[in-house]
Amino acid sequence: MNKDPGKTKTKKAAPRVGIVMGSDSDLEVMAEAASVLKRFGISFQMTVASAHRSPHRAAAFASEAKDRGIRILIAGAGHAAHLAGVLAAHTPLPVIGVPIDSSALQGFDSLLSTVQMPPGIPVATMAIGKPGARNAGILAVQILALSDRRLAKKLADFKADMAAQVEEKAQKLEATALQ
Ligand code: RP5
Repeated sequence: MNKDPGKTKTKKAAPRVGIVMGSDSDLEVMAEAASVLKRFGISFQMTVASAHRSPHRAAAFASEAKDRGIRILIAGAGHAAHLAGVLAAHTPLPVIGVPIDSSALQGFDSLLSTVQMPPGIPVATMAIGKPGARNAGILAVQILALSDRRLAKKLADFKADMAAQVEEKAQKLEATALQ
């Protein structure tokens, strides 16, 4: 019997998306992806694993992800960013890569090392930095929405809201005395 119902813990939903980053210093960027998933009510797990510093941890996370119910992996890394590619090598799940602007080359290095995958092992590569992380979240939602009607409705509302905001901005701008 539960003596203290106030202390009842609700069971956390199994993650549907895995967000992996090369270092905790990538969190500020990758939090953008997480906030999109939260907005759509998608359960996710965030962790750190490095293709270079902890290759076994990265490989194990990817190898086990599908059996744990994860459907999509999002990987963010900077410098010579091989994380997304290494995850993709170890799982049949779709992998979305986010190049992070943490090096002297401001992410151009990460962009090339994430996007230039050899034929056979694709990584869906986003833009560099926070806009890319945000789009990674949205792309994950779009993939999940293919088999989830409720999510598809939320996604349609989200896109309609964006279009409405553009419309509002256009009307404001057109009403200015500049033209
Ligand atoms: C990359 O090196 C990480 O993804 C991060 O962007 C960068 C710097 O890592 P730290 O030195 O801050 O741990 O592997």
